[in-house]
Amino acid sequence: MNATPPTIVQIGPLSDRMNQELSSRHQILQLWRHPDRAAALAAHADTIRIAVTSATHGCDAATIGALPGLQAVCSWGVGYEKLDIEAARARGVQVSNTPDVLNDCVADLAWALILATARRVGQAERYVRAGRWGGTHDGTFPLGSRVSGKRLGILGLGRIGAAIARRGAGFDMDIRYHNRNPKPESAWQHEPSLKALAEWADFLVVACVGGPSTHHLVSAEVIRALGAKGTLVNISRGPVVDEKALVQALQEGALGAAGLDVFEHEPHVPPALLEMDNVVLIPHQGSATVETRRAMEDLVLQNLDAFLRTGRVLTPVWE
Ligand code: 8YV
Repeated sequence: MNATPPTIVQIGPLSDRMNQELSSRHQILQLWRHPDRAAALAAHADTIRIAVTSATHGCDAATIGALPGLQAVCSWGVGYEKLDIEAARARGVQVSNTPDVLNDCVADLAWALILATARRVGQAERYVRAGRWGGTHDGTFPLGSRVSGKRLGILGLGRIGAAIARRGAGFDMDIRYHNRNPKPESAWQHEPSLKALAEWADFLVVACVGGPSTHHLVSAEVIRALGAKGTLVNISRGPVVDEKALVQALQEGALGAAGLDVFEHEPHVPPALLEMDNVVLIPHQGSATVETRRAMEDLVLQNLDAFLRTGRVLTPVWE
């Protein structure tokens, strides 16, 4: 008996729920289960029309090139630096991501990092767990710094950056931003120079897109402009920050503190950071809530259904 040939390739595993959901609705080629990816793609090149993937698994030019019938790539996650947009565009392949549904949770996590770094939450928790509170050999726990009323700089006033800024208003903060395209309609002041924004800010939050256009945008110079009293928070992509320069600035006391959800070579975390009490380290958790992850999955399924019904994805990366 011949099985129906797959029309969809799933590049990498998603959640158990999502893997099952996809397999129960469609004939899926689960590419990660094949040690020879190229051979698996070649065997089904005639029938595959859609690729399902994620911000982490991506979809490269070789995969797109191996599938002459490919018409759409539906990706889980908002970031698309691992999807070869140019290759897809050149072939007229539509690409969807999962924007908007994660804005609030990523912005909430940026705030968790702002508060945790300023108020030394991680360090304080380690102190209590180690039984040091009230211990005889300890002085008092060091003071943190105030957040309310301070200066918040945002690199990248997109959907997530704007959600971070709105929350900052609730903390009575003075807010400015740096963006490729200024947003005159926004309530906040645009700062044309990132270095000047860093010099001005108490907290600089990185919320721009990843990829070549923003690689090491937060350079040694920008980090040092933020200064010994400044805090850097990154919930965007690790490579936006020059990680070597960041570690060096922290080691030298040229930067006050850092709250990091993302790293340059995930899951590698520079060992020097693990020793520092003025950094808070999170394993890429921006969108990681039950509600948001489910909404992201649902949006992938909706994109897939829309493409199958109408020939158009719902939330294209570009129009
Ligand atoms: C995911 C993300 O947490 O949407 C994105 O681009 O970075 C996140 O939502 C990440 O892909 C985890 O693997």
